[in-house]
Amino acid sequence: MTAPADRPAPPEISPGGAILMNGLRLRDEIVDGLRATIEAAGSPPVCLATVLVGDDGPSQRYVKMKHERAAKAGMISRHETLPATASQAQVEELVQGLADDPAVHGILVQLPLPGDLDEDPVLALVPAEKDVDGLTIASMGRLVRGLPGLVGCTPLGVMRLLERYGVATSGRRAVVIGRSTLVGLPLSLLLARKGTDATVTMAHSRTTDLLDVCRDADILVGAAGQAGIITAAHVKPGAAVIDVGVSRSAAGIAGDVLFDEVQAVAGAITPMPGGTGPMTVACLLENTLTAARLQGAFPA
Ligand code: GUN
Repeated sequence: MTAPADRPAPPEISPGGAILMNGLRLRDEIVDGLRATIEAAGSPPVCLATVLVGDDGPSQRYVKMKHERAAKAGMISRHETLPATASQAQVEELVQGLADDPAVHGILVQLPLPGDLDEDPVLALVPAEKDVDGLTIASMGRLVRGLPGLVGCTPLGVMRLLERYGVATSGRRAVVIGRSTLVGLPLSLLLARKGTDATVTMAHSRTTDLLDVCRDADILVGAAGQAGIITAAHVKPGAAVIDVGVSRSAAGIAGDVLFDEVQAVAGAITPMPGGTGPMTVACLLENTLTAARLQGAFPA
């Protein structure tokens, strides 16, 4: 017997009994929804542009995934590349061209930029209404002020996972390990903002009592990029544990969470891979459609 189409499939459970917050499944739901919305509107194409400077392998793979999913969502995408030897002026000229082009609705500059290139003046050229990464000072300022605007794809993806898997936030303790502008800082603000209402602690590399801080968390997010810093001992029984960390070594890719031992204590957990990574891509595309709407290029 198959489940009715309008009922979400039941959650998968880890061997230790935690709900698996499946980012691949939710990404596909979001991408399918975007495609349906775009096809129904019959508007001119929604377009995402990415800028990749240099030839870093992982960055090339991330950007490729973004373009593949954009096509699945019914969007078009442009991929602009420059060599690692590009000057600051060349990168800025490229981004300015995309900013000025009315056919481009979202601009993502893949970070980090190589060598001595300074990302701040590059990001400053991205208009707030095309800032699908939520990284400009205008977008960050709107988030701090609690105003509507584009919010970073990874923090937004974490929020979507919490919503989808019914993780309550109001009045509950959330601990985010990491204070990056890409993840830790905006995610802490999103968790604390009115309507979400978690009590948030933003921990970081100088936090002295990390174990005690983490043990108090109903929602624990690893966004430090330090392989395995979250062990079973850090986790309150039944807590929701989200892994955003990515560390690369000769042994491969590792997250911040020691999945095998933590899943036996947590109430819900993201797998790695297949947790937050796909959600970053889904929310990038969601942001691209929002950006097109903000520019009046897609029906509200
Ligand atoms: N590099 C790693 N993750 C990201 C991201 O989410 N956005 C950008 N622009 N660069 C990244």
